[in-house]
Amino acid sequence: MADMPAECAELAFLFPDGVRMACIRVQDAPRRLHDAERVYVKKAVEKRRREFSAGRFCAREALRQLGCNAGPIAQDAGGAPLWPEDIVGAITHSSTYAAAAVAGKSHLRGIGIDLEAVSRVSEMIAGKILTGPEKARLQNEPDPQERQRLLALIFSAKEAVYKCLHPITQGRIGFEDACIECEPSRSVLRIQLSARIRPFFPGIQGLPGRYCFFYDTVCAAVWLAA
Ligand SMILES: CC(C)(COP(=O)(O)OP(=O)(O)OC[C@H]1O[C@@H](n2cnc3c(N)ncnc32)[C@H](O)[C@@H]1OP(=O)(O)O)[C@@H](O)C(=O)NCCC(=O)NCCS
Repeated sequence: MADMPAECAELAFLFPDGVRMACIRVQDAPRRLHDAERVYVKKAVEKRRREFSAGRFCAREALRQLGCNAGPIAQDAGGAPLWPEDIVGAITHSSTYAAAAVAGKSHLRGIGIDLEAVSRVSEMIAGKILTGPEKARLQNEPDPQERQRLLALIFSAKEAVYKCLHPITQGRIGFEDACIECEPSRSVLRIQLSARIRPFFPGIQGLPGRYCFFYDTVCAAVWLAA
């Protein structure tokens, strides 16, 4: 594993064996893109370009660890990264950090990773993204700070689920299609999939995942076994 920022050390333990990942502070990432990638941010503002470059840097670093000498990483019409054949992966960036995780398709069928700044997740999204059981769990949390962390974690986990599953279903996955449970003592996530999308994944009720908090950031990692 290449050096990660010290505060992100826990990220290295989120995914199962066989997954390679990289994380960097956006401000420290080299601003190198292939011409074939630059087209995606040609009209973007500087902040977006910096984050995009940092994400691509992490993706290439993770692929290198997997023994894959990656060239440009293009994107599909929906914005998902197009990985080399036989590889699955995901990219994320907050304004401070970028990260990417990849694995061979013989290990995993899907990967999702997401970083969110906890304080930037607004309570206003709760009504839009939470399922009934998630709402109840949040309402049972008396400490406002813990409530904020829990909401950010649920949101981050749902974004990670989307990145993991959308490339497979290619169809609409809504926030109601994943119900997030967390086990704080082990930093484990259990994600129940809705009856609507389970037919895409015969024999699978849900996805495993893990998470960590550092500074004002939460990182959620989920995966789908091969
Ligand atoms: C696509 C989405 C998940 C990105 O998440 P985000 O928190 O806004 O931003 P992040 O920085 O963490 O991730 C951005 C990266 O996601 C990846 N991404 C974008 N669309 C994607 C897709 N359809 N599938 C997989 N990955 C995708 C890209 O790599 C992108 O970075 P890049 O453009 O620099 O390459 C988000 O914008 C979105 O559409 N969310 C809807 C989630 C949802 O409906 N969840 C319900 C499932 S429970």
